[in-house]
Amino acid sequence: MRAILFLFVLLAVTACQYQSNKPLPNTQINPETLSQMNAHRPDVFSFSRHDEVKIKHLDLNLEVNFKQLILEGFVVVHYDVINPDAKRLVLDTRELKIKRVEPLYEQKHNKLNWNKGDSIAGLGTELIINIPEDHSPIKIYYQTSPQASGLQWLSPAQTHGQHPYLFSQSQAIHARSWIPIQDTPSVRITYNAKIQVKPNLRVVMSADNNTQQAVDGLHTFSMQQAIPAYLIAIAAGDIQYKKISDHVTVFAQQQLLSDAAYEFAATEEMISVTEAIYGEYRWGQYDLLVLPPSFPFGGMENPKLSHITPTIIAGDRSLDSLIAHELAHSWSGNLVTNALWQDAWLNEGFTSYLESRIVEAVYGRDRMMMEATLIYDAMLAEMQQLDNNMQKLVNTSKTNDPDDFFSSVAYDKGRFFLEWLEQQFGREHFDRFLNQYFDHFAFQSISTEDFVTFLKENLMDRYPNTVTTEQIHTWLHQPAMPVFFNPPKTQRFAVISDIADKWTSGKVRAKNIDTSQWTTQEWLHFLRSLPVQLTFVQLQELDQAFDLTHSTNSEISHDWLLIAINNRYEIAYPRLIDYLTHIGRVKLIKPLYEAMMKQGELINLATNIYQKARPGYHHIAIQQIDKIVKQTIGDEP
Ligand code: BES
Ligand code: ZN
Repeated sequence: MRAILFLFVLLAVTACQYQSNKPLPNTQINPETLSQMNAHRPDVFSFSRHDEVKIKHLDLNLEVNFKQLILEGFVVVHYDVINPDAKRLVLDTRELKIKRVEPLYEQKHNKLNWNKGDSIAGLGTELIINIPEDHSPIKIYYQTSPQASGLQWLSPAQTHGQHPYLFSQSQAIHARSWIPIQDTPSVRITYNAKIQVKPNLRVVMSADNNTQQAVDGLHTFSMQQAIPAYLIAIAAGDIQYKKISDHVTVFAQQQLLSDAAYEFAATEEMISVTEAIYGEYRWGQYDLLVLPPSFPFGGMENPKLSHITPTIIAGDRSLDSLIAHELAHSWSGNLVTNALWQDAWLNEGFTSYLESRIVEAVYGRDRMMMEATLIYDAMLAEMQQLDNNMQKLVNTSKTNDPDDFFSSVAYDKGRFFLEWLEQQFGREHFDRFLNQYFDHFAFQSISTEDFVTFLKENLMDRYPNTVTTEQIHTWLHQPAMPVFFNPPKTQRFAVISDIADKWTSGKVRAKNIDTSQWTTQEWLHFLRSLPVQLTFVQLQELDQAFDLTHSTNSEISHDWLLIAINNRYEIAYPRLIDYLTHIGRVKLIKPLYEAMMKQGELINLATNIYQKARPGYHHIAIQQIDKIVKQTIGDEP
């Protein structure tokens, strides 16, 4: 009896040591609280005091435990003492169970004093460690929670195979849920890792992935270029690989491998064209990891190994601009990094601009312009929903969630700003300038001001009277799009708009439209040019002519399903259910739930589908879809 009681107490205590069982939704923090509690720290989204003691290298030693859904082991933290009087190392943690902290070189039993400091919902908990007198590295034994916000654990049924799967998604501030770390893009570190997993499974990381290593349980990695915490990544599962060119190996589950290898065949050429304009690719290998469909994003630029959603495998390479985007981050973002999330446009705007240049070089101007037009239209629609502070490139909103900085403003307004600069200075001058920029700030984390100073010195002063300081100011600090910007236009879409109008007004029948040469981009523009309200007969006509309900292109399906929802076209519902229960990419599923929740009679359908799909979604998706569903029905789904 006593033994049982003891066990019970032990269990209860262990459970309590996790800060909570469920990731706390960021919405719970009041922005006021955040600015009060964290304003004195260099980055409001991090507890770290890297102005005093700054980490510089990590040695990770972890075991992937698929039974308990945890990572467990230790990390050795190497650091620099910036302020000679500093006595404490401050790290970010979120739902980590810290077991023991000791200096690396002193005697084992010589534990270090540590304590938990502030806790803020969404940000996690401050870990304060008294540094040893000799400043020797610090070894922290810890384990993650099964609910770690930066990890998704998949059962075999959620993958394409017979084995479980684990992947991380650290951006923006989830690295702290699997590593005690200074989780701010201002701090850069190198790392080594030893990862233990059950035999026959492969582990990959944002580091050199040596395919010659045996899959016998122990996997070692080394990342020798300094990167911010949000770029540390891991995945484990029955991952196979295929080398597709000199620098590129595709990693995926066997079932997807050959399709992925076909789809991403242009990657090597993308590397060459980017190097030709912006300078050397500095990371050695550029590999692609194709994740299971629950991956919540399109892509994530983890260095040396971009993480990619399988939903861009369309069979015709028409959605591979996303590869261009993640690759481009190897310059904008990974090499030159926004020091604070408020400046996310330095990462995403530059990358979206580079992406367009790569697409133009590889696929020609027509495709680039079609994509530009789709993006511009979507951006205007999204910007209408944002308040003035959120519409500025240098975002001045008081948000408590760094993800808010990743709206189409950072991506697309940022991109069009750089495109405009290119137009004003001419491509040759602007390319040379950006090439210098990447070289000058390589492996540094910078602010918008750093960029503006560099722009003035290296472009505006060299070619005076080309743009004015006021114009730059308007781009960076005013809401909306500047009136002096000319929106992109393409003849290819003018033709499509015309066909859409003709069909809508009954002048042409769907079956008589020649779509044989249409690209994905033209299909998307066609669907977006249709009136919001369509009759059943009209929808059926389109479906019979083009079989849209059974499109295997995830973007076209998305747009078609949205139309189906808005017009209650029930024939597409089975496909809708299938789509939402198989895909977890937020960009593709969120608008569909939103649309259903707006149609009173589809609320039940939406909640039923969500109930079935929710356990398979990543917590980032769950957090967002919960909000939509709760807003409408008012309680937990
Ligand atoms: N770095 C982002 C993904 C991201 C942003 C993750 C913010 C977490 C927080 C990545 O490079 C990206 O932008 N992905 C886009 C694709 C792109 C083509 C616009 C995506 O996932 O949709
Ligand atoms: Zn990006």
